[in-house]
Amino acid sequence: MSFGSFVMYNDDMTATTHLAILGRQPELGLLELESLLGADNITLFGKKASLFSGDVSINRLGGVIKIGDVLYSGPTIDVLEAPIDWLGLGRGERKTTFGLSFYGPSVNPRLVLATGLELKKRLRQAGPVRLVSPTTGTDLTAAQLHHNNVLGEGFELMVMVSGSQMVVARTTAVQDIDAYAARDHARPARSAKVGMLPPKLAQVLLNTTSAPVIIDPFCGTGVVLQEALLTDRSAYGSDLAPEMEAATRTNLEWLATQTSTPLPAWQVNTADARKATLPTSEAAVVSEGYLGTNLTAMPGSTQLAELEAEITALYRASLLNWARQLPSGAEIALCLPNWRVQGGWKTPSVVDDLYKIGYTTKVFKHVPGPVRYARPDQIVGRQFLLLTRL
Ligand SMILES: C[S@@+](CC[C@H](N)C(=O)[O-])C[C@H]1O[C@@H](n2cnc3c(N)ncnc32)[C@H](O)[C@@H]1O
Repeated sequence: MSFGSFVMYNDDMTATTHLAILGRQPELGLLELESLLGADNITLFGKKASLFSGDVSINRLGGVIKIGDVLYSGPTIDVLEAPIDWLGLGRGERKTTFGLSFYGPSVNPRLVLATGLELKKRLRQAGPVRLVSPTTGTDLTAAQLHHNNVLGEGFELMVMVSGSQMVVARTTAVQDIDAYAARDHARPARSAKVGMLPPKLAQVLLNTTSAPVIIDPFCGTGVVLQEALLTDRSAYGSDLAPEMEAATRTNLEWLATQTSTPLPAWQVNTADARKATLPTSEAAVVSEGYLGTNLTAMPGSTQLAELEAEITALYRASLLNWARQLPSGAEIALCLPNWRVQGGWKTPSVVDDLYKIGYTTKVFKHVPGPVRYARPDQIVGRQFLLLTRL
């Protein structure tokens, strides 16, 4: 059996040759894959993975942890019985470092180890081998893969089981955690007051839009603008607070010193999002906007009503202002706050008025409901508003 990519077909008979392992909130990865590749080119596999066809660099994906080429797809079988050229995976006489990651609802760590040891025995026929095993759970983290240079000196296989179906894929790319850490923590201007949008979340928001120019009217310390520039999009930002304009400027000037090629054009200024004149109408508005007071306990009804009124007024006025300036079809990707309450989330009522304000909500085949981002301990979560100007 040759060691080529195994081609499988989804219901629409589109070739899906790659497997993506999605992050902690799988809907974020699905949103960006669907936006970038088209709904028919991706299929959810299990709860935390997607099969897809098409080309996309993992470095621009915020919600995907690993990508691999599918080698086997079919009924669940003993992995080592899969029609894969096992010896061809190794590096012959040069030392091969390899690892196995199993994903699925009821995978046993002992099975992962036993399979790894058996494969090690087979590969040893050709040359020296080192097996890297998960330290906890059944899969190797991005950090383990990087630190052991598994992809450089060998290979990782991902084995994903969903119901009676199994996919085996050879990992081709892993999230660059060091690059994220550098982008997140090494930036010179930081702000505890406005909080820091994780770069991965900014990437997901940006990936839902396609315009070559991005405007962030609540630019804060400039995370959205930074991530836009890194995917070769021009970036315009503004913020009500002059010190935030200055913070963004400092951060983007620093970013320019960190990249080997010149950044696309960017500009920042001080402006109120409710009144700002957009620098161009041929752009997408992408922003994590003002999230209101940060809370450490669930708000009481009076505080909740005040927060809701403040946030709804701000976003209604801002969305109306942009609607006056943007052409039909323009895209908006916003995060606004939701508040954790007993039994669920409170959303600001502006979300119910979007049509009246001049927008439709984008529909995603693989992510039907509203998308919210919150760590389990957070009271203020972020809700995504992914809109098109009517
Ligand atoms: C959560 S931060 C924005 C994060 C930012 N989008 C990023 O990518 O880093 C919210 C920002 O909204 C700004 N802000 C609050 N009210 C505003 C308004 N009416 N117009 C413009 N900016 C405003 C605050 O100064 C703050 O910097």
